[in-house]
Amino acid sequence: MAVSSFPPMNLELPSKPVQELIKSTVKEVPERYRVQLPNNSDDNHSDIEYMDSPIIDLSLLSAGSSSQHEQELRKLRSVLNSWGCLQLINHGLSSSLLDQIREVGKEFFALPLEDKQKHSRTLDWFEGYGGDTACEGQSYNWNDRLHLKVYPLEHRNFKLWPEYLPGFRETLEEYAMEVRRVMKTILIEIAKSLELDEYSFLRECGGVEAINMFTRFNYYPPCSKPEQVIGLKPHSDGTSVTILLQDKQVEGLQVQKDGQWFKVPIVPNALFINIGDQLEIMSNGILKSAVHKVEIDKEKERISLATVCSPPFDKEIGPLSELVGEERPQLYKKIKNYVSVFFQYYSRGERAINSMKI
Ligand code: OGA
Ligand code: NI
Repeated sequence: MAVSSFPPMNLELPSKPVQELIKSTVKEVPERYRVQLPNNSDDNHSDIEYMDSPIIDLSLLSAGSSSQHEQELRKLRSVLNSWGCLQLINHGLSSSLLDQIREVGKEFFALPLEDKQKHSRTLDWFEGYGGDTACEGQSYNWNDRLHLKVYPLEHRNFKLWPEYLPGFRETLEEYAMEVRRVMKTILIEIAKSLELDEYSFLRECGGVEAINMFTRFNYYPPCSKPEQVIGLKPHSDGTSVTILLQDKQVEGLQVQKDGQWFKVPIVPNALFINIGDQLEIMSNGILKSAVHKVEIDKEKERISLATVCSPPFDKEIGPLSELVGEERPQLYKKIKNYVSVFFQYYSRGERAINSMKI
């Protein structure tokens, strides 16, 4: 189904990584990175409460006794309907693998600029090294990324992978394989929690072999005036699900619920899972795509690793027919290539999912 399309927009890419900007002797935040925050004392970072972190145990979901399993499924449904996100523990990724993947990310951003720029992204495709695009007049995020496609296997573009970093490729391959297992299990368990056939969401996503998975290493340099910038502006993800490995020490992620912001705590070794817009659409609004943002630390850099999972671009998705009925009319349109619609809105600082509502 056609969605309203924007007139051609003037997308722009930051001319320098933020990591380079902060080396400059000028200490003022460049105009283009300054955000206009509402004059609201709630936006004072230190006043913000922690979310009451919903923790889900994957080992209970996949192999617990039947009563533990039932209980964990109920919890899963409830947190994804209210928060749209959760902290996943006992997911089977070893803490040494989590340390290794964080380490290779750190090593990448520590490379000289000219080495990183061998993997630069372009204005029209987000894969590679660089910042997010923004429309003319929109501020840039205080964030540099390395964005790599990890699945399907045959779509890996090794030209963008830093081959000369020892262990980078092997570590990312192992990490991606494990995250893919988690993604598959979680999509199955979410379907079960809604009393659907367990493969419903995987099927709507085009099947596990076809799902596009991108891993993005996010680098957030510190800023001496953190209140003037934003690591990532408020957004929900255009994915079906996102699996995030937070920094081990430095906080920054916040989630919105009922119009209020909450800090996401660091739960050691947990993976933070959030529902993206496409699963909200498929579930006809039962699962909530979590709105989140990233605040910047005054002194410390922060590195996170988000793996985003989406159906193939040519797969039409829409609310599952089992979740549409007299009591629950269809709330969203069907759509192909939601990701491209998503980026048009994201670059304008707007939410794409609103354009999908019937
Ligand atoms: C993202 C994202 C959060 C973080 O990459 O979409 O929201 O903590 N990342 O880096
Ligand atoms: Ni996000």
